[in-house]
Amino acid sequence: MEQFLPSFTWNNPTRVIFGAGRLAELRGLVDEISGEGSRIFLVTGRSSLKARGILQRVLDALGEGRITLFDQASPYPSPDLADVATAQCREAGCEVVVAIGGGSVMDLAKVVALLSNKEGAAQEFSAGERVIEGPGLPFIAVPTTSGSSSEVTMSSALWDREGKQHMGLSSRHMFPTVAIVDPEMTMSMSKTLAAVTGMDAFTSAIESYWSTEAEPMTDGINLQVIQMFHINLNRSSIQGDIESRANCAMAATMSGIAYSNSRPNACHAVGIPLTLYWDVEHGQAVSVTLTSFLRWAAPGIPHKMPALYAALGAQDLDGACARITQIMTRCGLETKLSGLGLGEGDIDTLVESTRWDRTRTLPRPLGRDDLRGLLTELL
Ligand SMILES: [Fe+2]
Repeated sequence: MEQFLPSFTWNNPTRVIFGAGRLAELRGLVDEISGEGSRIFLVTGRSSLKARGILQRVLDALGEGRITLFDQASPYPSPDLADVATAQCREAGCEVVVAIGGGSVMDLAKVVALLSNKEGAAQEFSAGERVIEGPGLPFIAVPTTSGSSSEVTMSSALWDREGKQHMGLSSRHMFPTVAIVDPEMTMSMSKTLAAVTGMDAFTSAIESYWSTEAEPMTDGINLQVIQMFHINLNRSSIQGDIESRANCAMAATMSGIAYSNSRPNACHAVGIPLTLYWDVEHGQAVSVTLTSFLRWAAPGIPHKMPALYAALGAQDLDGACARITQIMTRCGLETKLSGLGLGEGDIDTLVESTRWDRTRTLPRPLGRDDLRGLLTELL
């Protein structure tokens, strides 16, 4: 009988502080990490935190005089925006970066923290013209959504929407120093935002589980994440109570810890062009192909499927796919490409613009004709 002897490297140094109300520990953490009175570069989105009164609370708690506020983070941040923010952080002589917001805010701030003590533009690093050679400033991430998992991952997504380019920056030096995951911060998510961000992390966990990079530690975490979303995602989206929101916040963070080690693949490979060319929101874009790729991957990991079925409360592959479809439908998400505005004439563009480099860790090789067939069935 063939023996299975795992061999892998575990990456994730981020200190996770989880619990309702724990944002209150931010000041103590900043002082511990970068010294009392150290200068803080605070990154937020344009309005939501202000409207909720949270921004003023944070400014008061940290001491306004030591903060340089960058409140211009936008969805799908560009490398240029990262450069503008990095220049401000450098000019102000900040010693620590704090991000409070969703995935885009954290991704942007993570780049700022990394590059503030380095020469060069974000674009040059993402293009590989410059190499990330050492750590940046300490970085504290406070998520207000439950899905990007950026608070515990080693990468940032930057976007050139006009040039139809998705650029990633990724390095061991980019893991946040601390993640403060306070479920109270997620309470203002709309039904749709809770659904799409949750489906992003849920999809990542299933991709990470079927990946050829998976190992026993990622498997254990991913199965727990999958079960938590199966039980809590509809409730978090529709009722939005603190318990289900807390479970989704925990699951999203755990998903990021697992997928730092076993990366999302096929659903993200197709999801990126769906966002770039058809303007589909990221969580919706990656989840629309989830059941199709699960059916594709399943014969490559037959020994792992029963545990996945159990985590989804299902008996078999049909039941698992039906359960995922039910969760998405109840949240008001589309499960067909036609529902996202695509027709038969779009399939070739989607196949050609797929990030093929990210499909290599599927447990079964996927060719262009395979993908074309799979996407056509999904119309
Ligand atoms: Fe994602």
